[in-house]
Amino acid sequence: MNPQSIGVFDSGLGGLTAVRQLRRLMPSENIIYFGDTARVPYGNRSRDTLLQYARQDMRFLNTFDLKAVVIACGTVSTNCLEELRSENPVPVIGVVEPAVERAAALTKSGRVGLVATRASVTSGAYERVFHRLYPALEIFPLACPLFVPLVEEGRCRPGDIVIETVAEEYLSALRDAGVDTLVLGCTHYPLLSEVIGGVMGPDVALVDVGAEAARACQDLLAARDALADRREGSARFYTSDRAVNFQRLAALFLGEEGPVEQVDISRY
Ligand code: DGL
Repeated sequence: MNPQSIGVFDSGLGGLTAVRQLRRLMPSENIIYFGDTARVPYGNRSRDTLLQYARQDMRFLNTFDLKAVVIACGTVSTNCLEELRSENPVPVIGVVEPAVERAAALTKSGRVGLVATRASVTSGAYERVFHRLYPALEIFPLACPLFVPLVEEGRCRPGDIVIETVAEEYLSALRDAGVDTLVLGCTHYPLLSEVIGGVMGPDVALVDVGAEAARACQDLLAARDALADRREGSARFYTSDRAVNFQRLAALFLGEEGPVEQVDISRY
C-alpha cells in the first residue's frame, strides 16, 4: 500500500470539484492541491503561455512525494497533456479521455455537446479523442468564456438573473441541436449543473469531467496496487494569490475546509 500523495492542480478553484470527488472515492488518500489563483483564468491564454504555467504548476507539485497527478483543469488537459506526461515520471491524468468514455456510455442519440473554455474548444482535443475512440458520435463544441468569471464571483445559483441569461444565450443552440449528453469540459462548470440542467432540460445527461478524472485516478492506482490504506487521508491546499481569497470560496467548491498556504509560483 502506497503512502505517497495525489497531486492536483487547476488555474484556480474549479479543480476543487475534482478534489471533492477524489475525497469521496478515496478518503484514505492524502491530497496536495495547487490553485494558480494569481493567474486565473487560463481559458483565454495561448498554448505557449499555458505550457509555461502548467510546467511551473507541475514543478511545484513535484516538490512533494507523489504517486499521481490529476490535471483538474480542462484547459491544461486539452492543451498540455502530452508534454506534461512525457516530461514527468509520475503518472499524469487529464480530464479528456475519462470524460469522453463516460459521454459515449451515456449517449443514445449519438449527439454529444461540449461546453468548455475558449482555449479548450480551440485545441480540438475532445474531437480528436472522440474521433479516435468513437468515430460514429457527432460532437457539438461550444466555448462559454463568461461562465468561469461568473462562477468565481459566486453567481452560479438558479434564480440568479445574470447566470441564467448567459446560460440561456450560450446553450440554446446546443439544446436546439438535440444533444442528449453534455460534457461540462471545465472543472468550474459542475457548480452550474442546476442552471445548465435547467436550460438543457431533464433528458440531457451532464458529464462532470473532474469527477470522471477522479474515477480514472482511482482505477489507475488500483491497477498499480498503489492505493493508501490509512484510516483518513488529509488535504492540503496551496495557492499563488492570497490564501484568504481562496478560503472564502473554497467551501462552495469543496464542501470542506483545510489549511491553505500561499506560494510564489514564479520560483518554480
Ligand atoms: N477550471 C479550468 C478549466 O477546467 C479553467 C478555467 C480558467 O482558468 O479559465 O478549464
